[in-house]
Amino acid sequence: MQVRKKRAVENKQRHKLTYVSYPLCKPKKMWFFGGKGVSGFGASSTAEDVTQGIDGSGLTAIVTGASSGIGVETTRVLALHGVHVVMAVRNIETGRKVKETILTETPDAKVDVMELDLSSLASVRKFAAEYCSSGLPLNILINNAGVMAPPFMLSKDNIELQFATNHLGHFLLTNLLLETMKNTSRENKKEGRIVNVSSEAHRYTYKEGINFDKINDESSYSTMYAYGQSKLANILHANELTRRFKEENVELTANSLHPGAIATGLMRHHRILEGVVNWVGKYFLKNIPQGAATTCYVALHPQVKGVSGEYFADSNKGKPSPVSKDSELGKKLWDFSLGMLAP
Ligand SMILES: NC(=O)c1ccc[n+]([C@@H]2O[C@H](COP(=O)([O-])OP(=O)(O)OC[C@H]3O[C@@H](n4cnc5c(N)ncnc54)[C@H](OP(=O)(O)O)[C@@H]3O)[C@@H](O)[C@H]2O)c1
Repeated sequence: MQVRKKRAVENKQRHKLTYVSYPLCKPKKMWFFGGKGVSGFGASSTAEDVTQGIDGSGLTAIVTGASSGIGVETTRVLALHGVHVVMAVRNIETGRKVKETILTETPDAKVDVMELDLSSLASVRKFAAEYCSSGLPLNILINNAGVMAPPFMLSKDNIELQFATNHLGHFLLTNLLLETMKNTSRENKKEGRIVNVSSEAHRYTYKEGINFDKINDESSYSTMYAYGQSKLANILHANELTRRFKEENVELTANSLHPGAIATGLMRHHRILEGVVNWVGKYFLKNIPQGAATTCYVALHPQVKGVSGEYFADSNKGKPSPVSKDSELGKKLWDFSLGMLAP
């Protein structure tokens, strides 16, 4: 019991360091310092800026976690460009309210709301089955939903909540929608895009990168390292998808990205971080339209055609951690994830 308490205190100390140093050690990324990159866009570009003049009509997208923060703005801007957006949300009522707000601004927007709880494999399977039987095509899958730094919790399937929600739920969702995406790209002769919303926090993970042997181990759980682990998994997932798409010669791409540091509801489990972010947020961090820019750029922009297995930040190619490019680790994570899905 005493050892447990000691570990908990050590973990608390470690989290403090991790979260405090994370947003503050990246001053160059602050919107008012950043210039424009080779894409012509930068940290201050908004989702509307990076999609100006792009016609998305005829495309269908799923956005997970479309009920708040970056997901709402992503949905709004894609719909503004004529994309039919299916908002995959766990709270249907909130989703409907977001939809109504979008329709007030853009009355001819095509937006639907469907229920998806990524922390429940049964819910992911139900969503995918309903989507596939609806006959809708699928050009763009945006794996955006996320939970950050909750106290140790298990999902409905007894898997640590951040790994379950941020990685495993999206891993299963993507696998179940792949056939629909392949068919759509073949029939429409248009590239399909998978966009994983990761984070710079992928650099701050357990020593092993992915703690395969201790995913569900409460005693070694660190709220921030577990978040970093799940965000590293998002990048490894996109990279392994890329390897498989090349092997299969299909017209699909998979990329990952860091949206920036933005004051959203994401930090709700971390009171101090939430306080700091809300306090400095309006002066030093990106706002939500800027926070959704990289997602919309990677999802829609012609500059990203044929690009796969890249990590983007500020609507430009970025440099992820070396471990996120480890293809052996990516394959191991793939097999491990499949194993977790087995009945
Ligand atoms: N904000 C930042 O500074 C920042 C930085 C780097 C990366 N990111 C990433 O950006 C993405 C979006 O985050 P955000 O900042 O927009 O945060 P947010 O406002 O909290 O949005 C997160 C979304 O994920 C949904 N979600 C959480 N658990 C879910 C579950 N089990 N099933 C389905 N949906 C679930 C939430 O739904 P509810 O509304 O029902 O809770 C919400 O819609 C996340 O992947 C996050 O890791 C954010």
